[in-house]
Amino acid sequence: MSSKLIIALDFSNAELANNFVKQLSPSDCKLKVGFELFVNSGPDFVKHLVDLGYDIFLDLKFHDIPNTVASACQSAAELGVWMMNVHASGGNVMMNAAKQALDNCNSSAKLIAVTVLTSMDQAQLESINILEKPQDRVKHLAQLTKNSSLDGVVCSAQEATLLRKQLGDDFLLVTPGIRPKGMNAGDQKRIMTPNDAYQAGVSYIVVGRPITQAENPLVVIDQINNDTT
Ligand code: C5P
Repeated sequence: MSSKLIIALDFSNAELANNFVKQLSPSDCKLKVGFELFVNSGPDFVKHLVDLGYDIFLDLKFHDIPNTVASACQSAAELGVWMMNVHASGGNVMMNAAKQALDNCNSSAKLIAVTVLTSMDQAQLESINILEKPQDRVKHLAQLTKNSSLDGVVCSAQEATLLRKQLGDDFLLVTPGIRPKGMNAGDQKRIMTPNDAYQAGVSYIVVGRPITQAENPLVVIDQINNDTT
């Protein structure tokens, strides 16, 4: 069975990322490329990872007018990535255009949406005149994502049980903020262990520093893949 573990490749250059990836095999995990690595190493590095056989989640959270987002999604699909994302707050017309762009180029890449960034609490939402409670906004935007025929959302593990119930079994829930038992939370506020996240209905977990900064990353990967955390 293919791994449900997505490792966040948060490295400041391709050489560091490559040295880390050299220890891995595509059967162990999928890889997430975010802003930091994409801005410093670019599409060629993403293609290199795809050529090595990895499923790549390109985490660039597109949010712009529908035509621009659709073109960006098409470009991402042409790199051969497995998954990409947009902001659900871009609206259903933007999400539909993104989905249509992938269908038009016969891409099977998964398209998911970010609902509310986990860094946005009630006070932060109020500061931009959004008066809804964060959880209500997550539910609303997740439903909008599903209605726009996207494959799933990025969400916190705390939201997973509720969203799984609301959106059904086929909708993907992709979850960062995961910490194997006993590991440092770092700057993550509301953490969950891999096992608890799967129990809550999460489809894929995103784990960065507990693996990338481990003395022996393969041991941690093995523990996570064997549900012993
Ligand atoms: O190192 P750590 O496991 O905290 O990494 C989590 C990854 O997931 C990082 O790449 C971070 O940017 C990303 N992420 C997150 N929270 C979100 C969305 C993305 O931690 N709400």
